[in-house]
Amino acid sequence: MVTINDNYRKLKAGYLFPEIGRRVNAFAEAHPEANIIRLGIGDVTEPLPEACRAAMIQAVEEMGSRDTFKGYGPEQGYLWLREKIAAHDFQARGCDIDASEIFISDGSKCDCGNILDIFGSNNTIAVTDPVYPVYVDTNVMAGHTGPVKDNGEYEGLIYLPISAENAFTAPIPTQKVDLIYLCFPNNPTGAVASRDHLKAWVDYALAHGSIILFDAAYEAFITDPNIPHSIYEIEGARNCAIEFRSFSKNAGFTGTRCALTVVPKSLKGKAADGSEVELHPLWNRRQSTKFNGVSYIVQKGAEAVYSEEGKAQTRALIDFYMENARIIREQLTAAGIQVYGGVNAPYVWVKTPNGLSSWDFFDKLLQVCNVVGTPGSGFGAAGEGYFRISAFNSRANVEAAMQRITEKFTA
Ligand code: MLT
Repeated sequence: MVTINDNYRKLKAGYLFPEIGRRVNAFAEAHPEANIIRLGIGDVTEPLPEACRAAMIQAVEEMGSRDTFKGYGPEQGYLWLREKIAAHDFQARGCDIDASEIFISDGSKCDCGNILDIFGSNNTIAVTDPVYPVYVDTNVMAGHTGPVKDNGEYEGLIYLPISAENAFTAPIPTQKVDLIYLCFPNNPTGAVASRDHLKAWVDYALAHGSIILFDAAYEAFITDPNIPHSIYEIEGARNCAIEFRSFSKNAGFTGTRCALTVVPKSLKGKAADGSEVELHPLWNRRQSTKFNGVSYIVQKGAEAVYSEEGKAQTRALIDFYMENARIIREQLTAAGIQVYGGVNAPYVWVKTPNGLSSWDFFDKLLQVCNVVGTPGSGFGAAGEGYFRISAFNSRANVEAAMQRITEKFTA
């Protein structure tokens, strides 16, 4: 009989969002009359921007003619898309990032997990607590941790607790860590990192030869002009950071799939023989071997995000969701419930009322209000007593959900 990857057996129960889906489906089956509003998983609800749809339709037509048909594309993504991204997302913000350092992919979640392929198995790894579970689970799967402890933490990982006391920004570790996952705007707390905070991380990483894995999937939701959108806005970050970005949340591509990862050519790691090796060729090799690129049609849709119409339509989508976030924040606050985030991010991080545990509040909200959110403890032990509400839904659903919650719960 074949043997299995035993690391999978260390994983706690199911992945958070399918587990929530399972509970919600069980409730829906038992109560078919319930009008359930889902503010759990951060999945977009509004249609793709018109500019993206038009570009994709045009691309479909091109695929219908022998002269313009496309087979395999470059594994790294088409250069015309990478050049637009480099110019608009990075160079326009003063970041020294070249198109050749950008890799198009089918998702930041995939890339955050896949990136571990190019790193050794003996690195010290730090994550925040609470944290987007993908960073932890992919390290467990790769055998980078020991077993799970009673408090839900995995042996061998360094957890950096984030809470209201440190404005939900990770404290700089006192010990040396090799790989650090940072996510700003933060999923799940909706917090942002100031320039000074990111600079402290970059300085730390440069001093210790660490690599920061910077997840910027929500950068488009930043409203404060003083908050950096990219880690490369910080001097020196080219030498210590990989950045992940996505078209999922800003342009509604969760179902269409398009994202990007920046691996600067200046990044280096150490080989077993002690020599310094560039990371860019390793990721290029990994992608060329295991990935065949994102479809031409989808990349054409993503390129349209950078047209004048695309920019305006994407901005309108973001503003729409951020207005939802404002409604969530203000209504819960008026009901005396403590909330964080939701100003520069589409997530509102809620202190559960009446001292309820995260899962107790989840169950009550589902049963009493027929509203779904995400229990904070699902993001880590320090998320206990918190609850995440996503701003991704229709205005009518957000307003109805807030009315139901504030009628039943006051702190
Ligand atoms: C979330 O709800 O945290 C997101 O949908 C996760 C993701 O984008 O994979």
